[in-house]
Amino acid sequence: MDEVRIFNDKQGNMPVNQSNDKVVMDVRDITKSLPLGRERIDILKGISFQIMSGEFVSIVGPSGSGKSTLLGIIAGLDNPTSGQVLIDGVDITRMSEGKLAVVRNNKIGMVFQAFNLIPTLTAQENVEVPLYVGKHKGAPSTRAKELLNLVGLSHRLEHRPNQLSGGEQQRVAIARSLATDPAFVIADEPTGNLDAKNGENVLNLIAYLREQTGKTFIIATHDPVVASHADRSIRLVDGLIAGIDIIGGKIAR
Ligand SMILES: Nc1ncnc2c1ncn2[C@@H]1O[C@H](COP(=O)(O)OP(=O)(O)O)[C@@H](O)[C@H]1O
Ligand SMILES: [Mg+2]
Repeated sequence: MDEVRIFNDKQGNMPVNQSNDKVVMDVRDITKSLPLGRERIDILKGISFQIMSGEFVSIVGPSGSGKSTLLGIIAGLDNPTSGQVLIDGVDITRMSEGKLAVVRNNKIGMVFQAFNLIPTLTAQENVEVPLYVGKHKGAPSTRAKELLNLVGLSHRLEHRPNQLSGGEQQRVAIARSLATDPAFVIADEPTGNLDAKNGENVLNLIAYLREQTGKTFIIATHDPVVASHADRSIRLVDGLIAGIDIIGGKIAR
């Protein structure tokens, strides 16, 4: 498909030929409210969508629309006030902290706006870190080198974060997110601290990794141009889904 094709579909259904039809994440009527003085504020007001295996989905909306809160909930870092998040059919919102920690370590890789690398460790050591939590096959050093090669940083193994550019640091963070071979990579404003060119490189890397690994990528961004790199974009406004755009083929930029 060569032409840009965007249309709204509030159900969020994929056209039949777009993706693998296995639902890997089923988000059901998520709400989140927090006390604020004597009142409560409603941050998420009933969010439902499904994500298919191998999809690249963006969650886009203005600052304060609830993107980070939603990502925290689908990544098992935060509890919703109500609703369910089913990952491979299992509701993670009802899990004990111990079981949830195993799900996070095995199934979910995270990427953050500010990279969140450990400053005293080399690139290779940063990528190895998740492999020292829980049980994983193979030598961490071998796996870290492979992943840094995959993100184009085999010449930066011994560099520490302050010896790397922002774009390079984010590529290390992406390699780290893949270390435990998770099903999902969840990234909150992954290009937020990068200039346009490095941001574009990171997005192209994510698209490439999706093709290479078949993993499911979910990114949150306030930037519609960034969001348009995904297969599908879920638009959040004020804690609600305003629409879901399916982006057919490569979007012209
Ligand atoms: N721990 C918190 N306590 C109070 N308000 C919060 C908290 N976390 C988020 N919020 C509020 O919830 C709204 C959504 O925040 P957030 O999920 O960070 O949005 P986004 O990532 O889209 O910018 C904002 O109005 C924010 O101020
Ligand atoms: Mg945010």
